[in-house]
Amino acid sequence: MSEGEGQQLDAFKRYRGDFPIVVEGLVNRFGSQTVHENLSLKVRRGEIIGVVGGSGTGKSVLMRSIIGLQRPAEGHIEVFGRSITDAAPDEVLGVRNRWGVLFQGGALFSTLTVGENVAVPLKQFYPEISEELLVEIARYKVVLSGLPEDAVSKYPSELSGGMKKRAGLARALALDPELLFLDEPTAGLDPIGADKFDRLTRELKQALGLTVFLITHDLDTLYAICDRVAVLADQQVIAVGTIPELLATDHPWIQEYFNGPRGRAAQSSQARSDGGGKSVDNQPVGGA
Ligand SMILES: Nc1ncnc2c1ncn2[C@@H]1O[C@H](COP(=O)(O)OP(=O)(O)OP(=O)(O)O)[C@@H](O)[C@H]1O
Ligand SMILES: [Mg+2]
Repeated sequence: MSEGEGQQLDAFKRYRGDFPIVVEGLVNRFGSQTVHENLSLKVRRGEIIGVVGGSGTGKSVLMRSIIGLQRPAEGHIEVFGRSITDAAPDEVLGVRNRWGVLFQGGALFSTLTVGENVAVPLKQFYPEISEELLVEIARYKVVLSGLPEDAVSKYPSELSGGMKKRAGLARALALDPELLFLDEPTAGLDPIGADKFDRLTRELKQALGLTVFLITHDLDTLYAICDRVAVLADQQVIAVGTIPELLATDHPWIQEYFNGPRGRAAQSSQARSDGGGKSVDNQPVGGA
């Protein structure tokens, strides 16, 4: 069905297919409320894809469906060429340790230190790792996420909002993922903190060769770091492409979002910071 199908997922090899995430015909309902109706999306390997849409359009539910936390009513989802929708949970074991997730709101365990939080997925997937090595890996991930080393032994309540996001990122990076899900990572951060987090995301993507599924309301983030943007509206992904490509469509929500006062401000601030009119990406609009 997809390009990824039939590729063996060797435990020691990175995924080399073109589309690490393929969603087709997704339907999600809660009681009488239909959140997604025949939603499709393909995410390219190595891209940062921004996912936007009004509040309640189902961005977080889409992410939860992709990582197997929300079983859809209909549709098919493949991650790294493996079916998430058809498989029993243990059959996707080779896939689940290849992604990291920063949930909306952070969701750190409040009774564990930052280091212990980072160690949770490590213990889950690699129970044989010694305590010494766990501490070492956790420390490395914490520093990689831009926190001072002494944050390892702090509790979430001792951290600022921005530091909590970084701690959540450190935990998401614990397993050296190929795929990173970030749900509203810059929400609640001041503009400087948000900008730093954006840069960190971009740097990590480049250094670690990540594919990033990034849900955000932050227009500056979209302009600064996203290769393509997928727009959720009317229970579907109504468009996916670079921002210039999206601007060329005439969907009213897209026009209002990118051409409203905030969209224009983000656009001009981006143009100032990169010396004018950067196209976010030169790839053509992909099959949504
Ligand atoms: N477990 C659930 N049970 C019932 N309804 C749910 C559940 N999870 C989500 N919903 C509903 O599905 C819709 C989409 O929710 P979702 O959290 O995906 O929105 P969102 O696009 O992420 O919004 P926001 O931008 O505010 O985070 C909402 O109407 C929400 O109330
Ligand atoms: Mg959400």
